[in-house]
Amino acid sequence: MIILGIETSCDDTCIAIYDTKSGLITTKKYTQTIHTIFGGVIPKFSSFYHLNKIIPIIKSLFFNFQIHTTTINAIAYTAGPGLYQSLLIGAYIAYSISYTLKLPILGINHLEGHIFSAMINKKKPDFPFICLLISGGNTQLIDVQNIGHYKILGESKDVSLGETFDKIAKVLKLYYPGGVRLSHLACFGKIKKQNFPKILRNNITFSFSGLKTYILNYLKQFKYTNKYQYKANLAKSFEEYVLNMLSYKCYKALINYGRSCLLISGGVSANKTLRKHFYLFFKNKLNNFQITFPDQVLCTDNAAMIAYVGALRLTSGEKITNKLLIRPTWCLEELKYPLF
Ligand code: KG4
Repeated sequence: MIILGIETSCDDTCIAIYDTKSGLITTKKYTQTIHTIFGGVIPKFSSFYHLNKIIPIIKSLFFNFQIHTTTINAIAYTAGPGLYQSLLIGAYIAYSISYTLKLPILGINHLEGHIFSAMINKKKPDFPFICLLISGGNTQLIDVQNIGHYKILGESKDVSLGETFDKIAKVLKLYYPGGVRLSHLACFGKIKKQNFPKILRNNITFSFSGLKTYILNYLKQFKYTNKYQYKANLAKSFEEYVLNMLSYKCYKALINYGRSCLLISGGVSANKTLRKHFYLFFKNKLNNFQITFPDQVLCTDNAAMIAYVGALRLTSGEKITNKLLIRPTWCLEELKYPLF
């Protein structure tokens, strides 16, 4: 079965083609750089660029990989959560193609996509496992019992981890989206003692908003704020603090729920220091924990994960309704197992 995947939940226009026999055929992304000027995503620009880019990207993939439209068996698109205007473009395009080619169509939950992104072209972890989902929109610890069976064990009470990276990067005068730049800057820094707010240490929920405020106030007190080394040390101390807190909470979740596998996905999981930190942290534990990450290119938003979940659901017997569905807010716990 060959699935065309479409993802337009925020500011990346993404298309992928996935084959259940041979795996991922291709995946392509257009990142809208216009938002850099504003330091954040502007929804009306986001939908405008999706509308302009989506058809040329689909055409180029079909042309470059010599794929004929008759070989596609189904379409999977992101139905939510995400920006309403952006989701609408992806849904309408998916629906139009499905109507013209008379193909089944499936609206996929973006967060479910992130969870399963770590399984594309890789050895799959056994269910049940714990997923730490750290993206631009979400920070959640999820007990994944099976596809469509999710229990949220803990989540951020305020901003997500990705947004925190971006906001602190902005405070340090790095360009948007700053997460990756902040992490790069941290590579040149040294850990200095900081009195970061001691946040929710004893449970598995998260809160990050205090960190940005702390750094903002801290910078105001000093006149050296523009010194490169000073900023790098602050970035390194922040990253180290967050990684210690994350790994500790994941360990707690694994122990409390008796799971042996941890899957980490979402944009922030692309962070190389984070990957090293988690491997080292769990290497020193007595239990034999298995740690899994998506391929680096599949951490941030992509359509491969949408096509892949579409394939999983269709091959598990999901009923096709061919209804146009958009859900800007859509909690994982509302999802169902495909057969029901
Ligand atoms: O998964 P994603 O594309 O967005 C949502 O689905 O919400 O994640 C984007 C987020 C951004 O906040 C970006 O700054 C962050 O992931 N990010 C990183 C890194 N690469 C992307 N944060 C820290 N270190 C990185 N290397």
